[in-house]
Amino acid sequence: MGLFDKLMTMFTSDLGIDLGTANTLVAVQGKGVVISEPSVVAVRKGTKEVLMNGNAVGDMAKIMLGKNPGNIQVIRPMKDGVIADFEITEAMLRYFIRKAHGRRGPFRPRVVIAVPSGINEVEKRAVTNSAMNAGASRVFLIPEPMAAAIGAGLPVAEPVGSMIVDIGGGTTEVAVISLAGMVASESVRVGGDELDQCIIKYLKNEYNVVIGENTAEQVKLTLGCAISPPEEARMSIKGRDIRTGMPRGIEVTSSEIMEALRQPVTSIVNSVKMVLERTQPELASDLMERGICMAGGTSQLRGLAQLLAQETGLPVRLAVDPMTCVARGCAALLENLDVLQEILELGTDN
Ligand SMILES: Nc1ncnc2c1ncn2[C@@H]1O[C@H](COP(=O)(O)OP(=O)(O)O)[C@@H](O)[C@H]1O
Ligand SMILES: [Mg+2]
Repeated sequence: MGLFDKLMTMFTSDLGIDLGTANTLVAVQGKGVVISEPSVVAVRKGTKEVLMNGNAVGDMAKIMLGKNPGNIQVIRPMKDGVIADFEITEAMLRYFIRKAHGRRGPFRPRVVIAVPSGINEVEKRAVTNSAMNAGASRVFLIPEPMAAAIGAGLPVAEPVGSMIVDIGGGTTEVAVISLAGMVASESVRVGGDELDQCIIKYLKNEYNVVIGENTAEQVKLTLGCAISPPEEARMSIKGRDIRTGMPRGIEVTSSEIMEALRQPVTSIVNSVKMVLERTQPELASDLMERGICMAGGTSQLRGLAQLLAQETGLPVRLAVDPMTCVARGCAALLENLDVLQEILELGTDN
């Protein structure tokens, strides 16, 4: 590092950003995660005007969700792992970068941003430009599974195969990594959101009751499971009866919710199997030994690790603090620019 670079790092805090479909996290070198808020933005309906002078983002916007009068619209710009709206994504990124960088120093930060590996070149440029506009001095984009693997402590730069499965809100990203490159990967648009939708659909079909997305998520967190739980749990839910239009309470069990989640859970498991089938024998034998590491909010679904282990025959473990892996991985790369350089040069297999 030259003298100028050394001085720079004394006065700036570079940022690692996990631009997730459900949550955006920002980590600062040496400080860990400083921001963790939902990836939502509140705008004036029909416009791209972010409310509260550009500050109706994240926690603030989430509060408005569901309680919004007709002229407010709450948007999740990254919802399905693609950038639904460039301008709104930019406003969101700008808000988070300013909030994290704040008064930390006179210099513009370098920023490593993890993006869903499914986004295209145009979307990548949009993210880079947004971060530059928001005050970054340099922007590096890396695929989300790579960041997750680094945050999970996997030896990504070594000549050994590691598998990471990052299951978030909108997407599941699976990758086998060796020598700083993704040698096989898959990104499917199935994640926690889809699980919530399946619960909504199930209750509508079985009970003629409609519930909202937030309630569905609560049901998932309370009863959701991928394999039969050792003990059946129950929960009462309030919804609206579609025949009468009146509020109605029902009681559901974990077995029912497991049934409701079967299809998306199977898709997640199949995406892992698909990547395993494409992995070269040498690396596959590493995986036999080292197993699969899971990260992301939805990786915490009860019984999912066990189901994945049963279905693949490989050991499966959850990363420590699975929801912050990506952001921590991005920040860690800022301290290890050699590895960052290698990752950027190698790119991905697809
Ligand atoms: N304990 C849990 N069990 C199941 N799902 C969970 C749990 N905790 C969080 N989630 C789900 O994880 C998803 C968000 O995960 P996250 O990794 O932040 O997503 P993204 O990277 O797409 O922003 C949400 O769908 C949320 O409901
Ligand atoms: Mg994520």
